Amino acid sequence: MSWDTRLLKITALKKMTKNTKKIQIINGPNLNMLGKREPEIYGSLSLDQINSELVSLAKFLGLELDFFQSNHEGAIIDKIHDDFNANIDGIIINPGALTHTSIAIRDALLLLSCPIIEIHLSNIYKREAFRHKSLLADIVTGQVSGFGSYGYQMALNAMADMI
Ligand code: DQA
Repeated sequence: MSWDTRLLKITALKKMTKNTKKIQIINGPNLNMLGKREPEIYGSLSLDQINSELVSLAKFLGLELDFFQSNHEGAIIDKIHDDFNANIDGIIINPGALTHTSIAIRDALLLLSCPIIEIHLSNIYKREAFRHKSLLADIVTGQVSGFGSYGYQMALNAMADMI
């Protein structure tokens, strides 16, 4: 085999084995209705539109994304368990209203040792008092709140820097 062919093979092999970091994006209850749901608070983009912007950014950052949305607390917990078993590299989560109520999601996230970013489209501290308390805030790596859909991109950029 010539050196050229050998070099080509090594480069291809390196590309194949390059360890692309995988980030889980989780959206909780009612976030499947983005675009239709209180657009004056949550904006006019649908979740699909937000996700496709993230896909472009992830390509640029060299990250792989997995998207998950559920209106069910248990399904979100199961997904976090899957992420734990799969050794995920990072999680970006908007738990919706479960932010303020779910000790179970908090407990599931405590399984993980990778960076976790909590994200909210709205500024939860500027709204009703019951939204001021996040049961995740003290266990996540960081929180983004109040920047609308752009917050997801902020979170992904921050994640890329951390992992
Ligand atoms: C939210 C804020 C929560 O209080 C609310 O229940 C949501 C969305 C946000 O992204 O601003 O569903 O997480």
